[in-house]
Amino acid sequence: MSEPQTAGGAAPVTGVPMGGRVCVVTGASSGIGQAASVAMAGLGATVVLVCRDRGRGQNAMAEVGAAARGGEPSLELADLSSAEQVRDLAGRLAGLPRIDVLVNNAGLVIYHRQLTADGLEHTFALNHLAPFLLTNLLRPKLEASGPARVVTVASTAHRGARLDLDDLQLEHRYSAMLAYSNSKLANILFTRELARRLDGTGVTANCLHPGTVRTRFGQTGSAWLRLGIAIAAPFFRSPEQGARTLVYLASSPEVSGQSGGYYVSGKLREPSPTARNDDTARRLWDLSAELTGLS
Ligand SMILES: NC(=O)c1ccc[n+]([C@@H]2O[C@H](COP(=O)([O-])OP(=O)(O)OC[C@H]3O[C@@H](n4cnc5c(N)ncnc54)[C@H](OP(=O)(O)O)[C@@H]3O)[C@@H](O)[C@H]2O)c1
Repeated sequence: MSEPQTAGGAAPVTGVPMGGRVCVVTGASSGIGQAASVAMAGLGATVVLVCRDRGRGQNAMAEVGAAARGGEPSLELADLSSAEQVRDLAGRLAGLPRIDVLVNNAGLVIYHRQLTADGLEHTFALNHLAPFLLTNLLRPKLEASGPARVVTVASTAHRGARLDLDDLQLEHRYSAMLAYSNSKLANILFTRELARRLDGTGVTANCLHPGTVRTRFGQTGSAWLRLGIAIAAPFFRSPEQGARTLVYLASSPEVSGQSGGYYVSGKLREPSPTARNDDTARRLWDLSAELTGLS
C-alpha cells in the first residue's frame, strides 16, 4: 500500500478526488467529524452534515462550504440518541439523489449513567444503536448508489471493553470508560457483521481508530478526566490529523472492495480477540435489532 504523505504518523493524505460523491457525516459540528467534512468537501464531495445543534451545525457548514470544491454542503438536524429522530433523519436522507459514503462518527463519553428518551443507556444508544439503526435504514439507498462505503469511527478503547450481552444497558455496573469501551467494541462487531451481510452488494463497511485527538471529546467526563485531557492535549493529534484515516477509508481506491476491517493510521489492524468473535457480532446484531425495533 503506497502512502503518499503522512503527518504525525496520523494516516495517509489521500488527495483522491471525490467529485460527484455524496457523503453523509454524523457529528459534523465538531472535532473529527467536522475536520473530515472539510477535507472531503475540499476533495470535491458534496457533504451532508448531520448535527444536533443548529448553531454549531451552521458554523460547521460555513467552514465546510468555504472549503468546498464540489456541491454545496447541507445540514440535517437530529438528536441521534433518539430512535425516532434517527428514523426521521433516515427518511429525509433517503430523499437524496444518492449516498456514496455514510460516516458514523457522532459519539461521546458520559460520566454518570444516563438514560435516553427511549429509556436506553445513553452511551450505548448514541455510539452504537444510532449508527446501527441509521445504516440499516439507509441500506437500500447505499446499495442503489453502489459502490458505496460505510465508515464507522470506533476506538482503541474497545480493548478495555467487558461486553455482557445480558447487561447491555450496564444496569449492574456502570463506569464511563466501561460504557464507552463497550460501545466502541460494538462499533467494530457491528462493522464485521455488516460487512458479512453486505457481501456482494457493492457496499463496504470499515471502521477505524482515529488516534488520540484534540477535540471536545471528554468534556462531559469527570473533573479528573478533563484535567488529564487538558494536560496531555498538546501531545494529541489535531482534528485534521485525526480525520485522515476516516477520509482515507471514505475515498481511497486502495480500500475499494475491502470490507470488515479495523484501521489505525491508515493501516489494517487486528482489533481485540472479542472484536473478532463472529458469534458475538451476530448476537449483538440481533439484540440491537430488537432494541431499535428493526426486526
Ligand atoms: N478524540 C479522540 O481522541 C477519539 C479517539 C477515539 C475515538 N474517537 C471517536 O471519534 C468520534 C468523534 O469524536 P470527537 O473526538 O470528534 O468528539 P467531539 O468533538 O465531542 O465531537 C462529537 C460529535 O458528536 C456529536 N454528538 C454528540 N451527541 C450527539 C447526539 N445526541 N446527536 C447527534 N450528534 C451528537 C457532537 O455534537 P455537538 O457539537 O452538538 O456536541 C459532535 O459533533 C466519536 O465517535 C469518538 O468516540 C475520538
